[in-house]
Amino acid sequence: MDEQKGLPTLLKIGIGLLIVGVFCFATYSAPTPETPYRVAYSTVTGTATFDHKLHASDAGIGLSCLDCHHTMEDEEEVPEACGECHLKGEGSEDMIKRADALHTQCIGCHKEFDVKPVDCNECHVKVQ
Ligand code: HEC
Ligand code: HEC
Ligand code: HEC
Ligand code: HEC
Repeated sequence: MDEQKGLPTLLKIGIGLLIVGVFCFATYSAPTPETPYRVAYSTVTGTATFDHKLHASDAGIGLSCLDCHHTMEDEEEVPEACGECHLKGEGSEDMIKRADALHTQCIGCHKEFDVKPVDCNECHVKVQ
């Protein structure tokens, strides 16, 4: 994505978040139940945890929803889970399976930002 496209988007998100923030402050104090706080995936190689709130909130990493929910048209939309399209189990040529979709996106972005985790055992934790 080029910078000319990125800046207005960031501005729009900023304004959007401000409006949402004021609205939330005025009406609710609890987070919206539809948006996950944290997602734990249990796999044969151990449990991988994704802190949704950390990644998506302004107080955390502050990424845009559209950075990950790549089929969203705009910030207002409620996205579908990755697994609605990228099914668990076997993938196909036109649709990679959920685990590959997550691996590609999570590790791809961490490498881009030069942050951990990128190694298997940094994400997959064995619970006794
Ligand atoms: C760093 C990537 C990332 C960012 C940024 C992000 N999400 Fe997500 N979101 C995910 C992942 C991964 C899931 C879990 C999907 C799954 O397991 O199929 C998810 C799940 C969801 C779900 C639950 C979908 C369902 O039906 O279970 C909602 C709603 C959602 N996100 C909304 C948002 C909104 C709104 C934003 C922006 C404020 C946002 N997300 C930002 C990655 C992200
Ligand atoms: C509404 C259906 C839909 C949802 C929901 C969806 N995807 Fe996708 N995704 C697709 C389609 C279709 C493609 C292949 C075409 C393309 O590249 O756009 C794709 C491609 C991808 C690719 C690129 C694969 C490659 O080979 O380069 C990744 C990575 C990916 N999705 C991750 C995710 C993640 C992570 C989520 C959830 C946060 C998600 N997707 C949600 C439909 C979806
Ligand atoms: C679009 C970019 C992006 C995507 C996609 C992304 N991350 Fe991250 N993630 C980051 C950044 C940036 C940090 C570093 C935050 C810091 O160190 O301040 C991070 C940090 C983390 C951390 C360490 C902080 C913590 O929660 O303990 C974990 C674990 C993590 N990510 C898991 C995941 C998983 C699992 C996925 C995929 C479901 C994912 N991330 C997708 C950008 C991303
Ligand atoms: C950034 C975090 C992250 C890293 C790094 C990572 N994984 Fe994963 N992995 C996940 C997540 C999240 C899932 C859950 C996907 C799902 O259930 O669809 C997963 C799922 C899996 C699965 C289950 C696959 C399936 O089809 O159900 C295996 C096996 C796996 N990972 C192995 C590995 C190996 C081997 C490495 C190192 C080469 C690795 N992972 C690196 C986050 C990570």
